[in-house]
Amino acid sequence: MKSPQLLLLFATVAIFECTHAAVLPERLQLNICKKSEDDYQACLLQAFEKARPHFLNGVPELDFPGIDPLVINVTSVDRTLNELISIKAVLKNVRVTGLGGVVINDLKVDLKNMIGEIRLTVPHCEMSMEHDVSGQLLIVPLRNKGYFRGNFSNIQMYMRAQFKKYKQADVEYFTVDKFDTKFRVGDGVIKIIAKNPDLQFTADLITNFYNENPRLVMDSISPIYNEYSNQVIKQEINNYLARVPAAEFLPE
Ligand SMILES: *[C@@H]1O[C@H](CO)[C@@H](O)[C@H](O)[C@H]1NC(C)=O
Ligand SMILES: *[C@@H]1O[C@H](CO)[C@@H](O)[C@H](O)[C@H]1NC(C)=O
Repeated sequence: MKSPQLLLLFATVAIFECTHAAVLPERLQLNICKKSEDDYQACLLQAFEKARPHFLNGVPELDFPGIDPLVINVTSVDRTLNELISIKAVLKNVRVTGLGGVVINDLKVDLKNMIGEIRLTVPHCEMSMEHDVSGQLLIVPLRNKGYFRGNFSNIQMYMRAQFKKYKQADVEYFTVDKFDTKFRVGDGVIKIIAKNPDLQFTADLITNFYNENPRLVMDSISPIYNEYSNQVIKQEINNYLARVPAAEFLPE
């Protein structure tokens, strides 16, 4: 449901794509980091800062829409963890601002073993969307259609990926072999307005429960985010890698 975590993944994919610039348009004049670079990590960090305005605003040539604001017309979640936590939701007109403030806390690259690790923080983001949700959130039944707004702070993400090469039609490509991500949202405040004013009490029930127990709620639904984001980010990165030969992704 209310998941800034899901949204950080777009930031990650964006950073990844914008700093591996082989397929980027010339006009952007981004850095490309070579394997032979004296300090590959420093080069990547520099490439990231140079690419920042482009992944904020989007790159039309790549069909990449930009992440601040991040707009998602419609998405859905359907997952049951146990009898206390289940979420089935359709989310529309999702709009998030603030992802542009993303900070890279740590970046490690092991070129010999093709392992990358990154830690990111988004200090603050605001989210709004329409939702149609059902399920169970600990002691609160989720049954609501309406408008959601939330402010979230200190959103942290960790991602580790190991890549391997494969060959297709005599061209080498990379693909993600092993992959792990973890998210944590530091704090949040939400507000929900029911579409049907007669049902505002169900909206208030969810709102109050969340606002009084943000840590508890976010920790209990975090397996859903982590699972979803592992799948989605890995898929996004692999889609990208399948379009860029290994020699361009990581020039010698
Ligand atoms: C999202 O909606 C806008 C406005 O209705 C539309 O222009 C855009 O193409 C849609 N995006 C996607 C990915 O469907
Ligand atoms: C989020 O913060 C903005 C100002 O930064 C405020 O106007 C808005 O009411 C806040 N939303 C919630 C749900 O607290």
